[in-house]
Amino acid sequence: MTPPLLCVDNLVVSYGGRRPVRAVDACSLELHYGQILALVGESGSGKSTIARAVAGLVRPASGRIALAGTDLSEQARNDRRRIQMVFQDPDASLNPFHRIGTTLAEPFVVSGITDKAAIAAGVAKLLAMVRLDGELLGRRPRELSGGQKQRVAIARALAMAPDVLIADEALSALDVTTQLAISELLLELRDRLGLAILFISHDLLMVRRLADRVAIMRSGRILEQGDCAAVLDAPAHDYTRLLLAATPDMDRGGIDLMADIALLDVEGDQP
Ligand SMILES: Nc1ncnc2c1ncn2[C@@H]1O[C@H](COP(=O)(O)OP(=O)(O)OP(=O)(O)O)[C@@H](O)[C@H]1O
Ligand SMILES: [Mg+2]
Repeated sequence: MTPPLLCVDNLVVSYGGRRPVRAVDACSLELHYGQILALVGESGSGKSTIARAVAGLVRPASGRIALAGTDLSEQARNDRRRIQMVFQDPDASLNPFHRIGTTLAEPFVVSGITDKAAIAAGVAKLLAMVRLDGELLGRRPRELSGGQKQRVAIARALAMAPDVLIADEALSALDVTTQLAISELLLELRDRLGLAILFISHDLLMVRRLADRVAIMRSGRILEQGDCAAVLDAPAHDYTRLLLAATPDMDRGGIDLMADIALLDVEGDQP
């Protein structure tokens, strides 16, 4: 079997000075090429902290994070582009004063590309990837729907052709049809680009729909992980059973219903 793309080994992350809080306590995870790994667990369990450590936004107290076999701490800063994040609230991550065209051109400009035609071609490719119309380039974020804004955030994250996309509750603020439309997009990106996705969510129905593997977290620890269907169908841990019991429609009916809604030709993210 091919070695994993992203390997988190015995990660410990603490916050605070003299009385540090161990937000992540000896967690190990594997994200494979072209797969979606879901990270699930109650609020405060440490999911975003793992994401931040992987993205290089917080420094681990100990443990190792490796991307394609190379320790992230040894990787050059500009290599960090290989891991990109999308957050819950696109309004917080998109500049409200910039037109979408400017926002999407930015990563190319920052990376030193000056040729206008090359930038325009890059932006057009990104728009096509996230299935947005070129007409939106002249608009500002407030002139877009929530789903469209999240597509822009995903497009910007894809600009530098990352290996790993971290979606930290990226669907949580959207209505159900838009969640389904964006989840379809994530599956498409996984399949077409071979993108590996760390998908953080509280929504077990969505996790079952999207994820290849799942890890269940509580109080900074990973309680169990494995093949998504196997873990959700036959959880080894009482806490996972509780989470499942708290999810309405977790039976096949709920999944089939979601699949039906996904097949409807709904343009849930039109303004
Ligand atoms: N910047 C910070 N400084 C101090 N403590 C923090 C900081 N960020 C998070 N924590 C603490 O670390 C723990 C894990 O937080 P984290 O944000 O990783 O949880 P989460 O699983 O993402 O929760 P949620 O589902 O609410 O997003 C919590 O106890 C939280 O209070
Ligand atoms: Mg979080």
